Amino acid sequence: MKKKLNEEYENLIQIIEKRIRESTATWQMALSTFLTLLLVVCISVNPRILPLHQTAGIIILYILVYYFLFVYLCGYRATGEKLNNNEVYLLSGLTALYFISAKLCKLHLSEYMPGSIAIPTALVIMLISIMINSRIAKIMGLILPFGVFVAGFYDLYSYLFALTSGISAAYVLHDARRRMDMVKAGLIVGIINIITTSAIFMAHNAYASAYPVVVFWAAMNGIASGMLVLGITPVLENLLHSATTFKLIELLDLGAPLMRQLAQKTPGTFNHSMLVANLAEEACMRIGARSLLARVGAYYHDIGKIDQPEYFVENQHNDNKHDDLNPRLSATVIRSHVKLGIEKGRAIGLPNEVIDIIASHHGNSLIAYFYNEAIKKEGEVNREDFCYPGNPPRTKEAAVVMLADVTEAAVRTLDKPGVSRLEKFVNELIAKKVDAEQLADSELTFRELEIIKKVFVRVLASYYHSRIDYPKISDPGEKTQNSPDSQKAENNE
Ligand SMILES: [Fe+2]
Ligand SMILES: [Fe+2]
Repeated sequence: MKKKLNEEYENLIQIIEKRIRESTATWQMALSTFLTLLLVVCISVNPRILPLHQTAGIIILYILVYYFLFVYLCGYRATGEKLNNNEVYLLSGLTALYFISAKLCKLHLSEYMPGSIAIPTALVIMLISIMINSRIAKIMGLILPFGVFVAGFYDLYSYLFALTSGISAAYVLHDARRRMDMVKAGLIVGIINIITTSAIFMAHNAYASAYPVVVFWAAMNGIASGMLVLGITPVLENLLHSATTFKLIELLDLGAPLMRQLAQKTPGTFNHSMLVANLAEEACMRIGARSLLARVGAYYHDIGKIDQPEYFVENQHNDNKHDDLNPRLSATVIRSHVKLGIEKGRAIGLPNEVIDIIASHHGNSLIAYFYNEAIKKEGEVNREDFCYPGNPPRTKEAAVVMLADVTEAAVRTLDKPGVSRLEKFVNELIAKKVDAEQLADSELTFRELEIIKKVFVRVLASYYHSRIDYPKISDPGEKTQNSPDSQKAENNE
């Protein structure tokens, strides 16, 4: 009875989680509407009191423009990717702060200095670029200056300054891989700001004596943005558990405590994880998915095996622990590595995207061997008891890691396979995953699956080709010292 209640509770939680995921678009709409209203409030706080119909007309106009700019351009149809809840909150929060600061900083510094020089457009765009992605940052680089125009200044030069500052910030951070690149980006934006304000200065035909002040504030706008983003990013990364490029590069460190534990306690799993990482990274690169995320996800996908390595085939030598267990218990131990992996990942603060890869790398597929063994022993068994507890992958990166994982594990059972045999084998493995509906939510297209297959075959073929059997050289001195272990290793080669 208690077990049934637990199952019902787990099902209910899964349904709620699915609803929350599906409601992202609704939240996006709701928050966007909130921001629209905020913008309207900013605009409507105007000393000039307009007749009702005129105010209503302006409000409708802004809602329409804002709706299409923000909701459509940052939505799935334009970008080809769904934003998660944290990303929507961050984007909405930064937009709201930006509009408020545009309203509050409505300074008239001087007629030849753009008012938006006091607003950190570059900072906001850099944060969006790092925390979400550069595509959204470029779109927001176009949208946010519109906010400066309507909410703060109605001034063309302010609008143009915010536009060049924002767009350049999105571009200079495009390929950033080290944290110090943020400071460099700030310096470049500072130089672009100086060029823009110099042009505005010349357009105004202003006095030359005022030029140093203009140059100073223009440079400061860019440099301060770079410095602030360097300080704010780690705080946001920890708060939102985001997989930024910088965070992922740090996680590539094989000297990190958990990676060292994996290498020492589960050397078989460690080697398997490295090969899965090579396959997944290369495949993601070819289909345009996040290859760095796939590599890190592959490194950490089996960390749940660290506490009981001997129950997993890649770490077994001669004895098989499952010989002493009944199939049901064996399946429970195998299943548990997913849950343990999630717990370990959360404990060390892995980004949500990496945790998702750990949680979904087996999807909810069946542990067929122990399921069949249990049927032989017990007759009728509940299929659910022999399925992994996760959900099928929901991102391309998680799906590629799942495919790389199953391919690497299965191919190691083949003895020196040729390319055609590998092709047939990889085709069958991926077809099985498709038939078992493990890729239905992953957004991988058939064309991408074909590319993934080709990459797997090429990488595996080159791996097997490079594994040369060394000729045995007899060393007279070793004859008396050979341990049983070294003899066993030699026999295996
Ligand atoms: Fe696994
Ligand atoms: Fe694995």
